[in-house]
Amino acid sequence: MSPAESIRIKEAADLIRQGKLVAFPTETVYGLGANALDPLAVAKIFELKERPTFDPLIVHVADIGDIERLTTCRDDRAYRLFEAFWPGPLTVVLPKSELIGDIVTSGLDTVGIRMPANEIALALIREAGTPIAAPSANKFGRISPTSAHHVRKNLPGVDYILDGGSTSIGIESTIVTLSDAGFRIVRNGFITREDLEAVLPFDPSPEARSLVAPGMLKSHYSPRKPFYITGDPASKGVDKARSGFISFSGTLESGYAKVIRASERADLKEYAVSLFSAMHEMDESGVDSIVAEAVPETGIGIAIMDRLKKAAYASQKPEA
Ligand code: TXA
Ligand code: MG
Repeated sequence: MSPAESIRIKEAADLIRQGKLVAFPTETVYGLGANALDPLAVAKIFELKERPTFDPLIVHVADIGDIERLTTCRDDRAYRLFEAFWPGPLTVVLPKSELIGDIVTSGLDTVGIRMPANEIALALIREAGTPIAAPSANKFGRISPTSAHHVRKNLPGVDYILDGGSTSIGIESTIVTLSDAGFRIVRNGFITREDLEAVLPFDPSPEARSLVAPGMLKSHYSPRKPFYITGDPASKGVDKARSGFISFSGTLESGYAKVIRASERADLKEYAVSLFSAMHEMDESGVDSIVAEAVPETGIGIAIMDRLKKAAYASQKPEA
């Protein structure tokens, strides 16, 4: 890390300690961070994002030792997940301790925790000396940011942005809970069910607790423009000459006003890295609507299709 970068991280950490909001890079998407132990600071996240308070936040840590004070979890299986996937794009939902306020968890008795695999994020958390609550740094329901530019454009009110370039994974963390039988998936993400099954058995039964979380809403991650997925009947009426196309296979691009090759060779990871950025770019461009190429629903393709379907949901309804 350069001396200039260390200075910026110190400045940002000071702001976190003062209860301010700092956007920072993680390996998945940019987060909008506040001191997780300061309810007033956390409240500002909901205000700036225009996020409903029923949507709980993920708490980011830099040290596994923090699990003991932030949660009441003494389950070995959680530690096996940390060992296998942290730092990295896995959020584990655990019973919370009293240190975590209700505003962070939307009143749930559990908290989602993850240790991000990004040097700037980890340095910020260490320097601030406190865990950092952070949702993706976008307005509620909109596309997650994968660059500092996306944050600047969509959340101009943020107190500070740590610029760490483009994020390396581009799609949000996988979120799991633990049940007696094994792990349940709350939100699909970069870490796949198969990856997790190498460590714990998969429990296919749905989450028992009632949980209203936007990861689970039908509409989310939406561009401002009408958005369609190939293969979807709604995509048929699109005027190609006025539309943008986000390409996966390189075979369906002809006739569109603008094409972004999010993957050159039908590579799911490559597509995940560039997808949100392509959606942002199309939204900012002159096209009237956006079509994104569907991908096979295997491995990380499950998380990609989840995001695409939620982004397209509003455009499928007559007056949504
Ligand atoms: O990759 C990521 O996870 C990014 C980066 C910044 O870490 N964060 C992110 O946060 O995507 P956000 O706020 O956009 O999504 C958080 C989701 C909630 O919508 C909810 O689905 C789930 O995490 N969540 C958080 N706490 C939970 C809890 N106690 N129980 C169940 N789900 C929870
Ligand atoms: Mg989000």
